[in-house]
Amino acid sequence: MTRSRTFDRALVAGASGETGQELLSVLRPTDLAVRATTRSYANVDMLERHGADDVLVADFFESADAVAAVEDCDIVYCALGTPSGFRHTIGTRLVDRTGVINLITAAVGAGVSYFVLESAIGVRNSKSGLSLPARFLIHGSLSAKHDAETALRRSGLDYTIVRPGRLTNDPPSGAVVVNEGGGSFSGSIPRADVAQVMAVSPFTPDAQNRTLEVVSRDGMTSEPTTPVDIEWADDRLTVDREHRRL
Ligand SMILES: NC(=O)c1ccc[n+]([C@@H]2O[C@H](COP(=O)([O-])OP(=O)(O)OC[C@H]3O[C@@H](n4cnc5c(N)ncnc54)[C@H](OP(=O)(O)O)[C@@H]3O)[C@@H](O)[C@H]2O)c1
Repeated sequence: MTRSRTFDRALVAGASGETGQELLSVLRPTDLAVRATTRSYANVDMLERHGADDVLVADFFESADAVAAVEDCDIVYCALGTPSGFRHTIGTRLVDRTGVINLITAAVGAGVSYFVLESAIGVRNSKSGLSLPARFLIHGSLSAKHDAETALRRSGLDYTIVRPGRLTNDPPSGAVVVNEGGGSFSGSIPRADVAQVMAVSPFTPDAQNRTLEVVSRDGMTSEPTTPVDIEWADDRLTVDREHRRL
């Protein structure tokens, strides 16, 4: 039962990325201790300024780095992604598969309670939400994300898979439309909205062990085929914070 759990420490894997930084902003005012990761020492100061309590320089192609990253964590927020380029098409050496699966394996070994994975509209049953040319361009990473999603569903971890539409750096809209089961649902969404959905998922019983496609109401280009009404526990992060202060 998610509702009765307490979570103390969260890992933001890929914290230096654009969604990762939004996640740090959402988690900063909470009482969760936050560990952030990047592959670059040059990002450490920036991540500390964004509110990370500790920063680990880690490459998730190395399983030992994944093991070190999840140590003592209750939640893993995974916002890893491959930099733009040909690898999205040909599908070799993608962190979206190998790195994420290393992280899932490490999370199982460490007894992590909850894993939130940022995937994408376009993966498997949501493929109609992407145009054919877009699917062709990134078919390598879509396949890698499919493998990572499957590994997470089979891991035994409690999870939420969040599949956003096209990501933007717009301010948070606060109006997220949710679909489940893929179909042709499509559109765009600010990373700040994705970060909010990801952050509250472990605190939201409705979101447990589900794969949810998300776009913002303003960015929606195709209606949800199977809309779902999630009662997001936006207040729970702050409730926990107040509770621990008492
Ligand atoms: N762009 C879109 O429209 C779109 C739509 C739907 C879903 N998505 C997915 O959403 C996710 C987040 O996208 P984003 O654009 O916000 O992220 P991003 O800015 O590309 O950040 C990616 C993060 O992954 C980290 N990373 C990459 N390879 C790594 C490795 N081997 N080991 C450890 N860390 C590694 C990077 O860290 P360092 O570089 O600091 O090491 C960075 O923090 C991605 O999975 C993306 O595919 C994107």
